[in-house]
Amino acid sequence: MDTRPIGVFDSGVGGLTVVKQVMKVMPHEHIVYFGDTARVPYGTKSKDAVTKYSLQNVRFLQSKDVKAIIVACNTASSNSLEAMRAATDIPIFGVVVPGVEAAVRATQNQKVGVIGTAATVRSGAYESMIRQKNPDIAVYSKACPLFVPLAEEGWTDNDISRLTAQQYLNELLSKDIDTLVLGCTHYPLLKRCIGTTVGERVKLVDPAKATARQVRDFLAQQNQLNENETEGERRFYLSDTTSMFQALCQKALKHPYTAQIIDIETY
Ligand code: DGL
Repeated sequence: MDTRPIGVFDSGVGGLTVVKQVMKVMPHEHIVYFGDTARVPYGTKSKDAVTKYSLQNVRFLQSKDVKAIIVACNTASSNSLEAMRAATDIPIFGVVVPGVEAAVRATQNQKVGVIGTAATVRSGAYESMIRQKNPDIAVYSKACPLFVPLAEEGWTDNDISRLTAQQYLNELLSKDIDTLVLGCTHYPLLKRCIGTTVGERVKLVDPAKATARQVRDFLAQQNQLNENETEGERRFYLSDTTSMFQALCQKALKHPYTAQIIDIETY
């Protein structure tokens, strides 16, 4: 048994959707969350910038003595996972592989859509990994950058988010996809709006669930699960103030957690 916390980071508050799944699957685990709200979005930045930020985030979480790190950011997972793994001995889990596996299982007609940030789409990570698993699957990717500020603003299901979703998703729908990967951790916050836009026929895949299960299975295998019966402690750190943080915690985690601000540039 290992009672050290699990570290989770994202470029902002989108990773709270992953924390939600971790809390569901491993309720006794302590969690340390870092949201890089001073430097969000990552999705419009270069691979080098995303890697530099990701390495700093890993060093910060390492300073909190975490036993594993979940990269709750598709942009960092698809651009910088190798660099992070090379920089530390702490096991690092990205969200892309679990998302790929879930999508390959879900599709019936072998037509999968992937939505994410520009940097995630540019990396081609989802496409190449889905094709590796099953070369017969056609993958259609689309960057949906405006979903990130909409989610951070809390505009998750209003006229503006619905029009934005239609504008982005109509092209994918014309390809007859039956599965859509929410390849950005902010997007599950807009799940209802995205679901209404694509209709019931299209299955939405949120990689967060599969990621949480993968981490639980790994920790169980290593005898590193926290077996205490009490609910895990959750600590939140941000690199800048975000007025929406508490409201988003309430929405995503059903609790108005508060966050401590840290200077990530010193890590
Ligand atoms: N949450 C990030 C991701 O999953 C996207 C937000 C950003 O652009 O930083 O890729």
